Amino acid sequence: MQIPFFPPNLFEDDRDVLCEIVRAIGTGTSARLILGEQTACFEQELRTALGAADVVACSSGTSALTLILTALDVGPGDEVVIPALGCAPLASTVTNLGATPVFADVDRWTMVADPDEVARSITSRTKVLMPAHMFSVMADMPRMRELATAHGVRLLEDSALAQGGVLGGRPAGLWGDAGVYSFVQVKTFGTAGEGGAVITGDAELGRAVRMLRNHGQDGKRRFMHHRIGYNSRFDEVQAAFLRHRLPGLRARLDRRAAIAAHYTERFADLAEQGVLAPPAGGDGRCFYVYTLLAERRDELREHLAAAGVASHIYYPRTLPRQPAFATAGTWPHAEWASQRMLSIPVHPLLSDADVEHVADAVVAHAAAGKAYVVEH
Ligand SMILES: Cc1ncc(COP(=O)(O)O)c(C=O)c1O
Repeated sequence: MQIPFFPPNLFEDDRDVLCEIVRAIGTGTSARLILGEQTACFEQELRTALGAADVVACSSGTSALTLILTALDVGPGDEVVIPALGCAPLASTVTNLGATPVFADVDRWTMVADPDEVARSITSRTKVLMPAHMFSVMADMPRMRELATAHGVRLLEDSALAQGGVLGGRPAGLWGDAGVYSFVQVKTFGTAGEGGAVITGDAELGRAVRMLRNHGQDGKRRFMHHRIGYNSRFDEVQAAFLRHRLPGLRARLDRRAAIAAHYTERFADLAEQGVLAPPAGGDGRCFYVYTLLAERRDELREHLAAAGVASHIYYPRTLPRQPAFATAGTWPHAEWASQRMLSIPVHPLLSDADVEHVADAVVAHAAAGKAYVVEH
């Protein structure tokens, strides 16, 4: 049995539709291949589904972060608080604007930014708090909102991988002044290529982002540049394909959540044997990945590989330990987690038999490790 981490047949059922979309848009009389009717309809459908003031489709999740930070006038001298454990765009989007990322340590179990650590990281230069939902559990957004309000700073929610997650009745992406989604192929709402979106309840911020995505133009008058912007325009083929995929998103997310709930149940007693599952529950969860903490992580990874199960280490290093973002200091919980974290397959194309096979392999590894305890 071979169980890939990401399914190779991701769009198998949609291949004909995709080819037809390429043909129709490629041969359409309007010859509008970017920012056309499909993009406008896609943005409107997401806006309606979310109840957002604006949704602006753009070229990637990374670009979405950059557009928001630029709209918020983040630049040299400003600090942006981000989690110490996470993906590179959290830090690179900040440094590329000449601002400074300030790394906040994470909670050991949920592995998202610890609100107390975020509070400790706020200074008079802080302009934005940028928590991220990263490893199955959403960041504590009510606390982040309280902190942002108390300190008079903006809140950017990196919800790139949490589309469809809901915390306390509020969708991921709508907790901040603005949030982002990523549509890169493997994400929960991936497309056949790249894409992203900015989501906001602030119509003015939405207008600014909309201009910035197309070289600072306002969409009414060409070659009138109100601001220094970017090329982050959205592709009509991707918009049409995502519109086709949108109605099935909830079922795919539900399948991920059901697989995750099953894993969590199977792994409930393994902490005494060196393997810790994410906290149980459905509120504030996003299952782009399902991430375990394992005392003998590399052995577990080898054990899974021998059983035909692919796994990934997101992330083997903390952000301040990356050469590109090297920063002095210590982030003990992020370091601890980065040495133990291992993500196992949770994609919706797994069969029940696949899921059982993965769970059995993890349980068998843990059974051989009685002396190891995960102290979280
Ligand atoms: C949390 C997070 N933020 C931002 C990004 C960037 O998104 P993209 O790959 O679409 O640029 C990603 C995806 O890699 C991500 O996981």
